[in-house]
Amino acid sequence: MRNIDEDTITPAVLAAMAKCGNERLLTVMNSLVRNLHAFARDVRLIEEEWHQAIGFLTDVGHVTDDQRQEYVLLSDVLGLSMLVTTQNNRKPAACTEATVLGPFFVNGSPGYENGEDLSNGAKGRPCFVSGRVRGLHGEPVADAEIEVWQSDDDGFYDEQYADSKEPGPAHQARGRLHTLPDGRFHFRSILPEAYPIPHDGPVGRMLDALGRHPWRPAHLHFWIKAPGYEPLITHLFRNEDQYLDSDAVFGVRSSLVLDWVEHPAGIAPDGTATPSAFHTLDYEFVLNPIGQGQ
Ligand code: BEZ
Ligand code: FE
Repeated sequence: MRNIDEDTITPAVLAAMAKCGNERLLTVMNSLVRNLHAFARDVRLIEEEWHQAIGFLTDVGHVTDDQRQEYVLLSDVLGLSMLVTTQNNRKPAACTEATVLGPFFVNGSPGYENGEDLSNGAKGRPCFVSGRVRGLHGEPVADAEIEVWQSDDDGFYDEQYADSKEPGPAHQARGRLHTLPDGRFHFRSILPEAYPIPHDGPVGRMLDALGRHPWRPAHLHFWIKAPGYEPLITHLFRNEDQYLDSDAVFGVRSSLVLDWVEHPAGIAPDGTATPSAFHTLDYEFVLNPIGQGQ
């Protein structure tokens, strides 16, 4: 393998990998090399740009740690996360649509009983969320595990306070609960607000250079798991949000944009007197039975 030129470099790299015993790895790497080379040819990549790209990826690596996943953010803002989500979550139209997981899910969030307050002191306007989980054929799904996580009034997740001088309780505005025998669930939390994705690093600089903003419309995250059904990772969005049509990570589905009802101060759905205005949201999640297909 000598005297490789710009025409023979692609087949040369493909030939060099041909003995790979892992069929899937070979498929993925063959396509990656072909598309990467096609990209470099398409834009006639110059050496200075190649150095810049390496510098950018190096910066992304330097910012990344257990708390800050800059590579996930990069995938999100390039639409790769949403592409992978959509092509892996094809299901019947009557099922609740999936959207991106995002970087703020954490394992080990606290368990709650129905009716409890997940905010755990997080700052925000009261919000009472209720709903039902059912299967595609209408059957209630009892004992489904529901993970919820969200931003506070300032648009921050609890995780983002980890480095602050006055950290609050370990877990705020996130928790895990289970559906009742009729598939219903309800909890108290706070009203999620729109927020910018972390943009003080290389991904933020890239968005800036591209004339893009970093904002996500207000939403509540859900991850629902029940035996016999495909897991569902999704959000519920607030319908009046100004960023619904320009979400920085392309995650909005019309079917997930809902009417969150505002109420004046008074008796809340849990029977308590609420001295300030509050919101309510009610939604029915529809899960796809395993093996149902599209
Ligand atoms: C989120 O919704 O939590 C999120 C998703 C993608 C990037 C940043 C945040
Ligand atoms: Fe979020």
